[in-house]
Amino acid sequence: MPECLALLMPAIVTITFSPCIDKSTSVDAMIPEKKLRCALPKLDPGGGGINVARAINKLGGEALAIFPSGGYTGKHFNALLEKEHVASRIIETRSETRENIIVVDESTKKQYRFGMPGTELTADEWQQCLDAVDKIEDLEFIVASGSLPPGVPLDIYAKMAVIAKKKNAKLVIDTSGEALRHAAEEGVYLLKPNLGELASLIGKDHLEENELEQLGRQFVLNGHCKVLVVSLGGAGAVLITASEIHHVVPPKVEPKSVVGAGDSMVAGMVLSLSRNLPMKEVLEVGVACGTAATINPGTDLCRKEDVEMLLKRIRGSAANS
Ligand SMILES: Nc1ncnc2c1ncn2[C@@H]1O[C@H](COP(=O)(O)OP(=O)(O)OP(=O)(O)O)[C@@H](O)[C@H]1O
Ligand SMILES: [Mg+2]
Repeated sequence: MPECLALLMPAIVTITFSPCIDKSTSVDAMIPEKKLRCALPKLDPGGGGINVARAINKLGGEALAIFPSGGYTGKHFNALLEKEHVASRIIETRSETRENIIVVDESTKKQYRFGMPGTELTADEWQQCLDAVDKIEDLEFIVASGSLPPGVPLDIYAKMAVIAKKKNAKLVIDTSGEALRHAAEEGVYLLKPNLGELASLIGKDHLEENELEQLGRQFVLNGHCKVLVVSLGGAGAVLITASEIHHVVPPKVEPKSVVGAGDSMVAGMVLSLSRNLPMKEVLEVGVACGTAATINPGTDLCRKEDVEMLLKRIRGSAANS
């Protein structure tokens, strides 16, 4: 096991405002109007921060997942997460936890992802989620990830940033649109947009990879975050701080499903940061975890053995270049 994945851990908490049960299945072919016979579905607890906590667990770390959950589906969701031994703090809600559906068309191997709208949270419920984070002592990292359901204010991650600063905790944000913009305006520790999310954040239609270095550094110098990690799908990712820039390209793989790639990447980076690894290695582990998630089918996250194999290849090719 690489040393970076073997040390003991300080506290990491993830917060997910819109968790879901991911139901994955397959059909022979996606044909309209006909009755489609589905394979036995596989159920996973999902949503940004939930997946980050699950991936941290799979990598041998520990994270506490804080999330709202309600109704019959909420009970089912809680049981699915418990089966994976992820520590949780549950905020009971009036609304039912949502369910998403992922269908693979076996004739084309294409994946269809149906996302249900997030279920509404009341002001009291989302406030309880924030309070739950606020109450935890000796918190080092807070990971806030995923979309926001109706009822939750778009500046919720900015509110989270104020709490993180008060607690001297490092806030990591992986989201998009207005929620991302508010977080960046308040200023956080780490942001992980993909190229499209970063482009809309800085008000551009499109961004080229070669513009990243200059724009990214300016973004960091403007105080939006201390660490900016821009993920580039199969091209890997770039990490930018005020004084460092690193680019890591993963080895070529045959991706089976990119579901959970971003979440696995965030998990690997946060775990590495909590172990005080240098930024270059943080990015290497993050890219290895993201790519490891793509070689598994469906909603499966990164597997530790795959991460270790990919890390060796990433480090080997960096040493030879
Ligand atoms: N096709 C691919 N081949 C190899 N690695 C990949 C591929 N797609 C994603 N990855 C890995 O996963 C990481 C994150 O992927 P990506 O940039 O697609 O994030 P994202 O758009 O935030 O994804 P998500 O939809 O999971 O939120 C990449 O940096 C890379 O390591
Ligand atoms: Mg993403």
